[in-house]
Amino acid sequence: MSRIYNIAVIPGDGIGPEITECALKVLNVAARKYNFSLKINKYLAGGCAIDRYGLPLPEETLEGARASDAVLLGAVGGPKWDNVKPELRPERALLELRAGLGLYSNLRPAIMYPELSGASPLKSTKPIDIMIVRELTGGIYFGKRGTYETDEVMADGTPMGTVTYDTESYGVGEIARIVKQAFEIARSRNKHLTLVDKANVLATSREWRRIAGEVNEVYRDVTLDFLYIDNATMQLIARPHTFDTIVTSNMFGDILSDEAGQITGSIGMLPSASLGKPGTPGMYEPVHGSAPDIAGTGKANPLATILSAAMMLELSLGESRAALAIKKAVSDTIADGYRTTDIMIGKDSVKICNTEQMTDAVIAKLK
Ligand code: IPM
Ligand code: MG
Repeated sequence: MSRIYNIAVIPGDGIGPEITECALKVLNVAARKYNFSLKINKYLAGGCAIDRYGLPLPEETLEGARASDAVLLGAVGGPKWDNVKPELRPERALLELRAGLGLYSNLRPAIMYPELSGASPLKSTKPIDIMIVRELTGGIYFGKRGTYETDEVMADGTPMGTVTYDTESYGVGEIARIVKQAFEIARSRNKHLTLVDKANVLATSREWRRIAGEVNEVYRDVTLDFLYIDNATMQLIARPHTFDTIVTSNMFGDILSDEAGQITGSIGMLPSASLGKPGTPGMYEPVHGSAPDIAGTGKANPLATILSAAMMLELSLGESRAALAIKKAVSDTIADGYRTTDIMIGKDSVKICNTEQMTDAVIAKLK
């Protein structure tokens, strides 16, 4: 009997609808080949939901996501909604989905395809294969925030005025669960875990170090080392090939994953997974944004979303063979010279293609 999975698809804004369509096309072919089927339910979130319902994450979308086996998301946001109130911004949809689904663990692999090394701004062409494990539902993104008035006068004599604050706070349990997961992932890779923090200044960071050290006792086969975030941003450029698995807080992970995306060549290639408690739906999305400037032009690179769909098959649906087949089809497509404009390097004999042609090329290689 064929396995059936319920997938909540949230196309979003800009290029979101085009690229999720491409990923669904690939998924459906993989489903036929590997004997499972997908039941797709589409939901609105982000700017399109603001236009339709006046809020970025309608209850129906969160409920649909909760009731699914996994969520596939395109991208949200665009200049059209730049001036809406902060609590109504399209990005709120992402944050509320993460919180609402309890997606505390964000996996962002940064892999450099050898054929695309020329697209990297770095001179080194040594292989890069880094997994960033970012805490996703805590820290300063979700900490206490507010404003208050004060009469305080600063040392230079000027009044402080209205004070605005965001808070970085982490509970022991919150740190321990993401650190454990990072150790598990490092164990399945090259057994090298780097904790990135700011332990020379922040109390929360010192707590991350203490807990990581404790958890390391259970994962003695994994080498744990530490880097301050400022130094980490340098080392990632200086010696990217020496990193294996990185674990870090919500905000540092946000910053580092964009940097890792850039050094591997194109952010148009990078998938991500956001996971919560085992057995609950994970959410899969490309790391890039909604790119409203190229929406509808056929220029979008569908590979990050196609690779996100592969992560979904592997991590939420247990269809590892199909996941592997998609990843292999993508590498073969790249190796064969197919290029969307964002990953074009020089003028060597590449096959320039649009969003749809790239998708069809992947499908043709899917075994
Ligand atoms: C990301 C994005 C989001 C984040 C924004 C859009 C809220 O930058 O997923 O990295 O900061 O987490
Ligand atoms: Mg980001």
